[in-house]
Parts: sequence; C-alpha cells; structure tokens
Amino acid sequence: MGHSSVRIAPAAPQIVAHRGASTEAPEHTYAAYVAALEAGADALECDVRLTADGHLVCVHDGRVDRTSNGRGRVSALELARLEELDFGSWHAPADEPGFAGEQGDARDTEGAEAAGEPVELPDRDASRVLTLRRLLDLAAGHPKRVELAIEVKHPTRYAGRVERRLIEMLDEYGWVPRPGQDASATPVRVMSFSRAALRRVHRLAPAMPTVFLMEPFMYRTLGGALPAGAAIAGPSVEILRTRPECVERWHRAGRPVHVWTVDEPADFDLCLDLGVDAVITNRPRRMRAELETR
Ligand code: G3P
Ligand code: CA
Repeated sequence: MGHSSVRIAPAAPQIVAHRGASTEAPEHTYAAYVAALEAGADALECDVRLTADGHLVCVHDGRVDRTSNGRGRVSALELARLEELDFGSWHAPADEPGFAGEQGDARDTEGAEAAGEPVELPDRDASRVLTLRRLLDLAAGHPKRVELAIEVKHPTRYAGRVERRLIEMLDEYGWVPRPGQDASATPVRVMSFSRAALRRVHRLAPAMPTVFLMEPFMYRTLGGALPAGAAIAGPSVEILRTRPECVERWHRAGRPVHVWTVDEPADFDLCLDLGVDAVITNRPRRMRAELETR
C-alpha cells in the first residue's frame, strides 16, 4: 500500500476481541469472551453500563431489546431482572456481515450456517447477562496476561457514576496504576467517545491509560486532536481509509493507535501496513489466522 509509519509497538498489532468473539457467540456473553481467548485474542473489548441498582454490566445498547428477549433500558432494570433474560437466542452468526460463507472462523457454527438457521447455544454462559466483575475474574484468572479495553457508555445519563464505579472496581483488582507508575502496570485501558468521560477517568485515576474513540465526523471536527490526558488514539477504520496519514501523525506525537472495528481482511491489511498498535475486531480467530500467514 505504500504508507509508512513509525510503529510504537514494534511487534504485530494486538488482536482485541470486540464484545468477545462476537461472530461466534452472542456479543458480550461469557461464552463470547471464552471463545475470544481460545481464538488467541490478546485483549477483550467490552461496553459497560450501570443497572438501576448500581451494578456494572456488559451491554452495548442503552436498551436490552436488540440483544435479549426483554425490553427496557439497562439503567431502569435491576441486575436480578437482567439475570432472568436470555441474551443468546437472538444471535445468528450466519447473518453477521462478512461472515456468511467464510471458512475458518465458523468453527462452532458450520452446521447451522449451512442450514441458514440460528445456532443453538445450550450453555447458560451464552445467554446470561455478563457482569463486569465476571469478565474481570475471567481475565484475572487466565494463565497469560489478558488486556481489557473497557468502554464506558453513556456519560451523560450516568453523570459520572459509571466511571466512579468502574475505577472503584478496578482498584479491587489492583488495576488502577498509581501516579508515576508506567501504563503497563495495569492490563486495563478505559475508552470513550466522550471527552467529559475521559476527563472524569483522568481525575479519578490520573495514570490510567485512556483511549479517545473517534468517528469520521469527530476526526474532521477536531482535526484528529486528542483531549489532554488521552494516551491512545481510537479511530474508526473508516478514518484510516480516508486519512491514512493520521497514524503516522499520532505516532510522531507518541500516541499508540487502536483501530475499530476491523473485520474485513482488506482493512486488516491497511492496519498492518500503517503499523497500528491494536485492531479491535468481531473476528479475532480470523484476524489471528491472517496474522499468522504473514
Ligand atoms: O471499540 C470501539 C467500538 O466498540 C466503538 O463502537 O458502538 O461498537 O461501542 P461501539
Ligand atoms: Ca464498544
């Protein structure tokens, strides 16, 4: 492709499983994260929201309607109610964009994919709401270092409570780096599209690595500037397609670049060519295999 860039991480980019291995198992379920680790992901991405009774759960949307058999806002439901819902049976891997007809990462789903039917996932871990604590325990108990890219959702609705609760919980695991400590002291980075949310994290935990997520319109509006304290740039892959020079610019400023959501081999090639530091993907097994062919 011909784009060159200073690579901050000299090795291959980290493979970060977006909502778990979410083409193989329902997003944000324990099963999706176990599959991601088994697929060779280096890091796990998740979104966190607060329940009505103050628990952090891994759910992307403001409402549970798309990913469960229930209805309503996560913030209006108690954990006990979320525990009753089925977060698995909606998921049909064969319908995932870029997934149908692919070989290799359809390991668990071949039969159903051929039949065009949703996959039956018998395990409770594939249908139960995932608390952040359970995900942290999975990472903490894994034999090798697993990094966590935790995105705080809805900074306005939660008015800072989600960031406070997150930092308190990470502190229980010893994962809040102390001032002066290197970022590698923690396996966690906190991500957000909101500058206000990152500012709050920075106030609560000044040495915690943070990722400023950017969509193309944000990149255009801000000219790629990162807020003070944001250690890492988090552009969408669309930004790299149209503004590939951004990677070199951020690298020259000492900022690693974590790109989302990289599911297509051509985008993965672009990321490798530009020397990005992490790719966030729904297809960690496929991207790991791509990496191994190089
Ligand atoms: O990893 C960043 C990416 O997850 C941001 O978008 O909507 O999938 O949370 P979204
Ligand atoms: Ca996310």
